[in-house]
Amino acid sequence: MEEAWLTLQGDLNRNMQFEQLQVLFTASKLLVLDREGRQILHIPKQNVENIRLIEALGGGYLVASTAKGPVEILRFTEMHLDSCRKALSRVEQWVSKDSFTTDKRNDLKDRNKTCAHCGRVMRSAKDSCMRCNRKWSTVSHLLQRSRAYSASMIVMGIIVILTVLVSLAPPYIIKWIIDGISAPVGMGGVSSHLLWMSGLLAGIYILQALLQMIEGYTAISIGGRFLGELRRDMFHALMKQSMRFFDNRQVSQYIGRINQDTDTIKDFMSQGIVHLTSQLLSALFILGMLFYLDWRMTLMILIPLPPLGLFVMRLWPKVREMWYSQWQSSIHVQNMVGEALQGIRIIKAFSKENDEKERFDKANSRFVNRMISIQNLWMFMTPVLTLFISLFVALIWFAGGRKVLEGGMTVGTLSAYATYLIMFFGPVKWLAQSASWINEVLGSAERIFEVIHTPAEVTDDEEAQPLSKVRGEIRYNHVGFGYAQDRRILHGIDLHIAPGEMIGLIGPSGAGKSTLIHLLCRFYDPDEGEILLDGRRLSSIRQEELRKNIGVVFQETFLFDGTIAQNIAYGNPEAEAQDIIQAAMTANAHDFICRLPHGYETKVGERGHRLSGGERQRIAIARAVLLDPPILILDEATSSVDVETEAAIQEAMDKVIQGRTTIVIAHRLSTLQRADRLLVLEGGRLVESGSHEELLNRGGVYHRLLHAAQGASGREVWIPMQEVAR
Ligand SMILES: Nc1ncnc2c1ncn2[C@@H]1O[C@H](COP(=O)(O)OP(=O)(O)OP(=O)(O)O)[C@@H](O)[C@H]1O
Ligand SMILES: [Mg+2]
Repeated sequence: MEEAWLTLQGDLNRNMQFEQLQVLFTASKLLVLDREGRQILHIPKQNVENIRLIEALGGGYLVASTAKGPVEILRFTEMHLDSCRKALSRVEQWVSKDSFTTDKRNDLKDRNKTCAHCGRVMRSAKDSCMRCNRKWSTVSHLLQRSRAYSASMIVMGIIVILTVLVSLAPPYIIKWIIDGISAPVGMGGVSSHLLWMSGLLAGIYILQALLQMIEGYTAISIGGRFLGELRRDMFHALMKQSMRFFDNRQVSQYIGRINQDTDTIKDFMSQGIVHLTSQLLSALFILGMLFYLDWRMTLMILIPLPPLGLFVMRLWPKVREMWYSQWQSSIHVQNMVGEALQGIRIIKAFSKENDEKERFDKANSRFVNRMISIQNLWMFMTPVLTLFISLFVALIWFAGGRKVLEGGMTVGTLSAYATYLIMFFGPVKWLAQSASWINEVLGSAERIFEVIHTPAEVTDDEEAQPLSKVRGEIRYNHVGFGYAQDRRILHGIDLHIAPGEMIGLIGPSGAGKSTLIHLLCRFYDPDEGEILLDGRRLSSIRQEELRKNIGVVFQETFLFDGTIAQNIAYGNPEAEAQDIIQAAMTANAHDFICRLPHGYETKVGERGHRLSGGERQRIAIARAVLLDPPILILDEATSSVDVETEAAIQEAMDKVIQGRTTIVIAHRLSTLQRADRLLVLEGGRLVESGSHEELLNRGGVYHRLLHAAQGASGREVWIPMQEVAR
C-alpha cells in the first residue's frame, strides 16, 4: 500500500454515531478507513477538485468536490476540529500538487508538526504524539504522580497483603472445625477443639475489621491529597495556557474536567488501587490454596480462564468507545446548560425557551441512551459471569463429593475447596467487569493530563529580562498573523509609535484592530515579523511584566463577581480608597457609583450583570487607569456610553493620556479627535496613516468611513481639531 502523506482522524460516521475513522492522503488517492482498517471510501487524487472544511456547532466535516459532485469524506466532533483546521493548508497542498514525495524531513520543519499516525498537531516538542501512545503515557503519568505518596502506598500495600492473607484463613479454620466434628474422637476433645477454633475464627474477624479500618483511613488520606493536588495543578495549568488553547476549545468542559474527572481519579487512587491489588493478590493466594488442597481439580477449573480473558480483551475497545461517547454526551449536556443560562436573556427575547428545551431534551436523552447501553452491557456481563461460576461450583460439588465418597478427600477439605473456589471467582469476576471502570479512569486521567501537560504556546525567552522604566515606544516590523493557519488576519504590518503618542485606530469591523492589540499584549505571537517595545522584542520581556505595563480596556467588558471597588482595584488590590475614587472619577464613573445604595461596595453580580453596559465600561476604564500604565489601550471602550458621558470621559482622559502611549480603537470617529495620528486598517493591512485632514483629503478608506458615519447619524460626527484646541 502507498505510504500516507497525511492522515486525519474523525470520530463520527455517516449515521452520526461515534466511530473512529481516518482519511489517508496518499500520492495517488484519498482513502477513508474504519476502525478495523477496512476501506469505506476511495477517491483517486485526480478526481478531487478541492477539499473544504465545513465547521458546524460542536464539530465539522470535510467535503471533497469532485466532477460528480461533493462527497463527504470525514465527520468529527470538536475534539478533532482543531487538528483538521491546522491540517487544512496541507490538505490544500495535497490537492494542488501534481507530484510529491513523502519526504518526512520537510514535514519536520513545519511550525505545527503533525503526527504521522493521527494527523493531529503535536502538542509537545518531543517527536512522539501524546495522544497516540496516550494509554501508556497516562499510566506512567499516574505512576509518576503516585511517587509522592510512596510511604503511604507502602503502608497500604502491607495492609492489603495482610488483609488478603487474613481473609484466607476462615475457610481453613472452618475445615478444621468440620473435620473435628466429623472425626470419631471423644466428646471432651472435640468441644475444647471447637472452642479454640471458634475463638480463632472470632479473632480473625476482629483483625479483619481492624485492618479494614486502617486501610480506609489511609485510602482517604491518599485520595484526598491526590484530589487536591490534581485540581490545583489543573487550574494552574489552565491559567498558564495561552489564548489559542481557549479559542480552540469549549471552555465550559473544563469545569467538568476539574470536578468529575479528578473525582474519578481520587476514587481510583483511594479505593480502586487497593481493590485492584487486593483482588489480584487474593486471586493468586486463593489459587495457591486451591492447588494445595487439590491440584488436579484446580487444573480442571483453570481451563476456561484463557477464553474468558480473550473475551474481555475483545470487549475492551468497545467498552472504551462507549465510555468515551458517554463522556462526550455528558459534556455536551453540561455545555448546553452553561450556554443556555448565560444566554438566558437572548433565549427569552427570542422566545426560544421551547427550542432550547427541545435541544436539551435531545442531548439529555442521547446521554441517557448511552449511559443505558453501558449499564446494559454491565447488566449482561454480571449474570453471565455469575452463571459461569455457579456452574463450576456445582461441578466441583459433584467431582469433590465423589472423591469424598471414595475416601480421597475429607468433607472439611471439600467444603474449604468449594468456599475457596467461590472466593477465587470473586476477584476474577471483579477484574473482568472492571474493564469498563478502568476505561473510565484512564479516560479521566487522559483528559486531566492533557491539560496539565500541554505546554503554553506563548513562552518567554530563557534570557527574558525584567523591564526597567518603560518609555512606551512600540514598533511592529512586518508583522503577519492568523488565528488559524489557513486564514491570515494581519498582513505585513509596519508601524512605529513614538513614546507618549496617541494613536487612533480605525477600520471596518473584522479588519483586525483588536487582533493588532492582542499581539501587543502577547496573547498570541505573530507568525511573521516581530513587535518591539522600547527596542526590545516582546518575547525577551517577561509576559507578566509586559502586561503590568499595558492597561487595556477590551471590547467586551468582563467584571468579576465582587464589589465595584474590588473590580476597579483588580490589577492592584493594595490600592488606597483615594486612588480607586480618583480612577473612577477619571472614567466618569464616580457619580453613578455614588448614586448606588451601597456605593463602591455595591456587588456587581456575575459578569457584572447588575450594571448597565456603559457603567461596566466605565468601571473597566477605571480598572485600567488605576494601574497607571505607560501604555494604555482602549478598544471600543466608550462604545456603550452616550455622547455626553463620552465627552466627559474624554476630557478626564486628556489628563491621563499625558505622558503615555495610547492606542484608541473606535468606530465612533469623534472618540479619536485628540489622536496625534490616525491609522486605518482594512483587510488586515495598514492602508492609511496621518492626521484627520490629511486622510480626509486623500479621499480613501477613511473618507469613506467618515461619510458612512455621517450618513448614519445624519450629522457631523467629527469635531475639527481647531475647535478642540479652542
Ligand atoms: N479568537 C479568534 N479565533 C479565530 N478567529 C478570530 C478570533 N478573533 C477574531 N477572529 C477573526 O479575526 C478577524 C479580525 O478580528 P478582530 O477582532 O481583530 O476585528 P476588529 O477589527 O477588532 O473588528 P471589530 O471592529 O468588529 O471589533 C475577524 O474576521 C474574526 O473573525
Ligand atoms: Mg475589535
